[in-house]
Amino acid sequence: MNDDLSTGVGQAAAIIAASRHVVALVGAGMSAESGIPTFRGKEGIWTKHGEPDLRDYDRFREDPKRWWEQRMNPSPAMSELVSALAEAVPNEGHFALKEMEDRGFLQAIITQNIDNMHQIAGSTRIIEIHGNRTKLRCTGCSNRWPLDEFPIAELPPSCPDCGGIVKGDTVMFGEPIPPDVLEECIAQASLCDCMLLIGTSAVVYPAAQFPVDVLRGGGALIEINPEDTPLSNVSQVVIREGSGTALPVLLARLKEAGEK
Ligand code: APR
Repeated sequence: MNDDLSTGVGQAAAIIAASRHVVALVGAGMSAESGIPTFRGKEGIWTKHGEPDLRDYDRFREDPKRWWEQRMNPSPAMSELVSALAEAVPNEGHFALKEMEDRGFLQAIITQNIDNMHQIAGSTRIIEIHGNRTKLRCTGCSNRWPLDEFPIAELPPSCPDCGGIVKGDTVMFGEPIPPDVLEECIAQASLCDCMLLIGTSAVVYPAAQFPVDVLRGGGALIEINPEDTPLSNVSQVVIREGSGTALPVLLARLKEAGEK
């Protein structure tokens, strides 16, 4: 193990062990080692295919039937993402976070990823700020259903409870974050005295606001990312390593320190 990783992990473990409420803010980099491409950076999907414009959600609302028909024929950018998502399995980083939760070192995960990897790895306290690709959601009452438990008889499908239009749970560009989810994120950030920033470029809001709120509340930031981000300079610890490598090492160091 290189010295930087060992030093960084040692510092991070000391802060986590001394913290009351640790929250992980997770981005696409967390699932890069599961074969799911990130969005920005050299091989990023948006870098290659261009970032979707913010009118995605408006187009959905203008013609939800057409949106559903198009959902069945995804664009090249979305096809690349959809096929990678379909084949992906959790990596060592996901399993390390699950065990950190079990051992009381981690109180919640706020993920920007729609990939369901944390659930498959066994984590339980997960807040999906951008939704989950395996679910549908009513745009009226925010009811959610697993995709395979909601028979689609008509397009657009409507909610059996409120009659609202049902769409994929994934939050589109231009779509407001569902209020129930945003409330949970804000509550976790207000309790948090140590936030792990794992595999996020920290440029998309409102997710990128939570670390700033933690800092303002006197909390600590620990960044795990091979690349620099706008939060690197304000993080107490920066670990320039892939999360699939760094998180198992961090877990091992925390276990040496004993149960929380
Ligand atoms: N381990 C940790 N971090 C990694 C790894 C890895 N193995 N590989 C890449 N990274 C880092 C990159 O250096 C980059 O900083 O992950 C980050 C990925 O950044 P983005 O692609 O911008 O992803 P994210 O921050 O999750 O984007 C936020 O933007 O496009 C929207 O809805 C989409 O949820 C997404 C949001």
